[in-house]
Amino acid sequence: MRVIEVPSQMREIVLSERHSGKKVGFVPTMGYFHDGHLELMRRARAECEIVVVSIFVNPTQFGPAEDFEAYPRDFERDCSMAEKEGVDYIFHPNREAMYPHGFQTYVEVQELSKVMCGASRPGHFRGVATVCAKLFNIIPANRAYFGQKDAQQLLIIKRMVEDLNFPIEIVGVPTVREKDGLAMSSRNTYLSEEERKQATVLYQSLERARKLIESGERNSSVIAGEMEKVISSAPLVRLEYISICDNIYLRELEKLKGEILIGVAARVGKARLIDNVVINVQ
Ligand code: PAJ
Repeated sequence: MRVIEVPSQMREIVLSERHSGKKVGFVPTMGYFHDGHLELMRRARAECEIVVVSIFVNPTQFGPAEDFEAYPRDFERDCSMAEKEGVDYIFHPNREAMYPHGFQTYVEVQELSKVMCGASRPGHFRGVATVCAKLFNIIPANRAYFGQKDAQQLLIIKRMVEDLNFPIEIVGVPTVREKDGLAMSSRNTYLSEEERKQATVLYQSLERARKLIESGERNSSVIAGEMEKVISSAPLVRLEYISICDNIYLRELEKLKGEILIGVAARVGKARLIDNVVINVQ
């Protein structure tokens, strides 16, 4: 496994692998790996001959009051975990390499970035779309792997790739969970023992929604109301939003039909946690 820090060098390597006929899979990350990240690498490893993982805590997707400085980092540990998964290249640029002095070009996926997490994190998805556009140019892979855990991010990246004709296929990978259902996240490390226990209500509320839908409920306010009850049983969990919408444009639905996304976000202590489920409703 090789660690590359310079964008132009990374691009040359990927282009030469592609010219020799190899299929390249790319996994963008901010590091501090857990099983969710590793699952993306495993999928890439199974489907592609060359696997590139980027590790870059992207400053433009953090708001001024957010956790950019505190975001957990452990590059040595990440490298040894990636190596065990058979990753070929780690792209690890520094901030100046990605955002040199004078940088002023951004990508905005307009409507999809305004709702759900975009409503409470202005500029967040602009930062995500911008860094992914840059990474797709630096690492011209055949495929890029994203977690379903960040459902809105996945839809925004798919939209950007279609709208701006990036020649890359976006693959969504199911959410990896802890035994009690909590979605794995680098931010789970912010939780105290008691907060960690109570954080499982996010997953439980989604399971409650799934069961209601299975038993025939189609009214989204009824489902959201039941989810709120589950979440309010945990006093340390402060609900930010419940969104029940279609899984392409993120438009809120009153009556459930087709492929729907149920997303939830909450603050638990210092952490802001999100989770979601996609359900096909007949
Ligand atoms: P990061 O939070 O490090 O996540 C990297 C990738 O891992 C994302 O595609 C995310 O959806 C996926 N992931 C995280 N937790 C997961 C889980 N429990 N199960 C499955 N996949 C999971 O998302 C980002 O970084 C950044 O926004 C990035 C796309 C790298 C742009 O900076």
